[in-house]
Amino acid sequence: MKKRLPSLFYNPLSMFGAIVAIVNFLAISIIVLIDTLVVGLAPYAGIIAFIILPAILILGLILIPVGMHFERRRRIRQEKTEPRSFYVDLGKPSHRLATMIFISGSIIFLLATAVGSYRAYEFTESVTFCGRVCHEVMDPEHTAYQNSPHARVTCVDCHVGEGAGWFVRSKLSGAYQVYATVFNAYPKPIPTPIENLRPARETCEQCHWPDKFHGSQERVFDHYMVDEENTKWSIRMLVKTGGGSKEAGIAQGIHWHMNIANEIDYIATDEQRQEIAWVRIKDLEGNIREYMNEDNPIEPEDFDNYEMRRMDCIDCHNRPTHIYKSPSKAVNNELSAGRIDTSLPSAKQFAIEALIEEYPTKDSALIAIEKQIIEAYEDEYPDVLETRREDVNRMIARLQAIYRKNFFPEMKVRWDVYPDNIGHFLSPGCYRCHNGRFVSDDGQTISDDCNNCHIILSQGNGEDGQMIDPGGLEFKHPVDIGESWRELACSECHTGTSQL
Ligand code: HEC
Ligand code: HEC
Ligand code: HEC
Ligand code: HEC
Ligand code: HEC
Ligand code: HEC
Repeated sequence: MKKRLPSLFYNPLSMFGAIVAIVNFLAISIIVLIDTLVVGLAPYAGIIAFIILPAILILGLILIPVGMHFERRRRIRQEKTEPRSFYVDLGKPSHRLATMIFISGSIIFLLATAVGSYRAYEFTESVTFCGRVCHEVMDPEHTAYQNSPHARVTCVDCHVGEGAGWFVRSKLSGAYQVYATVFNAYPKPIPTPIENLRPARETCEQCHWPDKFHGSQERVFDHYMVDEENTKWSIRMLVKTGGGSKEAGIAQGIHWHMNIANEIDYIATDEQRQEIAWVRIKDLEGNIREYMNEDNPIEPEDFDNYEMRRMDCIDCHNRPTHIYKSPSKAVNNELSAGRIDTSLPSAKQFAIEALIEEYPTKDSALIAIEKQIIEAYEDEYPDVLETRREDVNRMIARLQAIYRKNFFPEMKVRWDVYPDNIGHFLSPGCYRCHNGRFVSDDGQTISDDCNNCHIILSQGNGEDGQMIDPGGLEFKHPVDIGESWRELACSECHTGTSQL
């Protein structure tokens, strides 16, 4: 064989490196070609084409000079000649060819790197990468996200945001996460809140401009009772969302907390920030007031042991997109939308009983849910099962869909693992501070007055449920529990883990 390249190149290591580089280059080109022509390649293709293969390619290229270096050393040892310094002689054909290959190779390589690293950047920022590559780990977050108001916002818009600093930080922690996934060392469920999540000011507020919040929002909550008739109970409320800006000088309603006009700092004594012990507010004029939770006070000498947190969007909207519904809420929605027939006797009760059961895997759950609903109707309403089999089947399909979207037994994820801080029905939420137990030195309390946050326009079923009172109604609990709803937080009875 005629050696067209400098003789040093003809050593096993360099030739191996060259072959590795060429094969990888071809493989990447083919994958990129398929990726451009055919849409919807498996997410793994992206990892292979834009991260793994280029890394091997570069390794191959490095092997070429390394092999040549060892070859030169070997010859010097063997031939015991004086080492000659490195030189390029364009008069020699082999040197000319090698130089040409080197220059044109470098140009192609640089161009490919530019395109490739852009694609790698684009790919690692994509929802596919974040949500699907580590399929099992991110399955709950990714699935819930797809069914949320933010389904078209990318993961990195909230989790990374703009700017090089957070980009590097996220890639560094990402590298650890890849390790944790490969070695199955990740926690189940993934703990929340996320430590060092980028401040909401730099993520949420890129899209939601706090100055522009105002007014109230009408919300309707349809509930169905656990009885044979699945009695409906609707609550129509005006939620005083509010807002305001420094320029306008006014800030009111719920969004009053946001850092427009006020600064609120607090200390929570647990990881999930559910047990708040101390709150401080500083208003526009600089007045400061501190509140201590009478039920969970912090001794002065313990203050330094806790982290103080400045309240922002995430302290209320901690589930803007990873929303896991409780069985009761999910079934209420289906009944309300007519996807489960409300005339099926005890549908609400049977549905909840099937959904709150703990199942080892998603697949086993889907089978068990079907079995349980059929058995329930067989036992109590055999005629319904006979005459309305289709409605029962539709109900089963809807329950399975609910399970698929909201329950992730493999990751131990469901609604009560990640309490939602908006409202106060199934978890303390606003009541973490607004429970009447936070008292300041001058005797003020953080208000627990229902009408501070919303007014009830109508409530109940039938005619009652339709009567709207613009002045606001006093809350009426659907079943008689005396005055308990005033004295206890709703979430002390309603947790979603039973029929409540
Ligand atoms: C609208 C903004 C937003 C988007 C979009 C978003 N997240 Fe989140 N994510 C959050 C917030 C807020 C939290 C909770 C942070 C906290 O409580 O500290 C969170 C928490 C998480 C957690 C921790 C576990 C948990 O549920 O609390 C994971 C994992 C996660 N997100 C992954 C993803 C993935 C994967 C995507 C894209 C498929 C995504 N996120 C898209 C805002 C978002
Ligand atoms: C890239 C832009 C973008 C970012 C970043 C973003 N959002 Fe949104 N958000 C939207 C859009 C668009 C909607 C409206 C969706 C719709 O109405 O269908 C929305 C809707 C909402 C809603 C109303 C949900 C509902 O039930 O109607 C809330 C609350 C919200 N976002 C909070 C947040 C919070 C908190 C963050 C930060 C963790 C955040 N958003 C980050 C674009 C964004
Ligand atoms: C004190 C708790 C709290 C804080 C802090 C808070 N919100 Fe809200 N926000 C609410 C509540 C309650 C609603 C009413 C909607 C509901 O009932 O789900 C709401 C509604 C919204 C909506 C939908 C309604 C609308 O007017 O379009 C958006 C968007 C929103 N918030 C974004 C934000 C952003 C962005 C921040 C941070 C700058 C923030 N919120 C801070 C409690 C809060
Ligand atoms: C970390 C503690 C904390 C949490 C959590 C919290 N708040 Fe507040 N909130 C406060 C404090 C402190 C005040 C001021 C009380 C005062 O002025 O004495 C306040 C005031 C308010 C006000 C009155 C604003 C005005 O116009 O004067 C409303 C409305 C309100 N909160 C709604 C909510 C809602 C809704 C939630 C849950 C989504 C919530 N808050 C969660 C601490 C909190
Ligand atoms: C600190 C503010 C605040 C206080 C005080 C408050 N609420 Fe609420 N409440 C909310 C918010 C915010 C929501 C909306 C939650 C949502 O959008 O899912 C809510 C939701 C509700 C709902 C609908 C729950 C559901 O999921 O069906 C009822 C009913 C209700 N509140 C009753 C009351 C009653 C009764 C009181 C007084 C004993 C009270 N609230 C006190 C903020 C408050
Ligand atoms: C002492 C315990 C207790 C407290 C506190 C309590 N509830 Fe209930 N709640 C019940 C019981 C029991 C039922 C009946 C369940 C059924 O038959 O469906 C019920 C049913 C309901 C229902 C209709 C069915 C459902 O579960 O969706 C609504 C709505 C409701 N409660 C709202 C509230 C609100 C809002 C608060 C707080 C202001 C509250 N409850 C506080 C015990 C309680």
